[in-house]
Amino acid sequence: MRASLLLPLLLIAALPAQASSQLALDKGCYSCHGEPPRRNTPSMAQLATDYARYRGQPDAPRQLAEKLRAGGLFAHIAAHERLSLEDCETLMRWIIEGTK
Ligand code: HEC
Repeated sequence: MRASLLLPLLLIAALPAQASSQLALDKGCYSCHGEPPRRNTPSMAQLATDYARYRGQPDAPRQLAEKLRAGGLFAHIAAHERLSLEDCETLMRWIIEGTK
């Protein structure tokens, strides 16, 4: 295959992960989970390290998304609760895979 055809294909292959990091930007996740993170907030990198333990568990993104959107008893974070289940699941999958 000619290189001129190959390059766009490679770019398309790289899209899903990029779309997720753009989603995190759009949804304002980094205003708290950035570097440095807001006080008492884990950075995105810390979340990724923590969530790496869910790799290979097909139900984990959905379960984590439901938990995040429900909020804690004392911690109600609008940015979490406003997410659609679909967006939240995409973001959870992206964090589990290391936010690449
Ligand atoms: C207003 C600040 C703020 C914003 C914006 C924010 N978060 Fe959070 N997030 C927190 C805080 C504080 C915690 C830790 C306390 C907690 O777990 O409720 C947290 C925890 C988390 C956790 C770990 C939850 C757990 O119990 O394991 C995940 C995952 C997460 N955030 C993802 C996101 C994503 C994705 C976005 C963007 C849609 C986002 N956050 C936006 C403040 C924020």
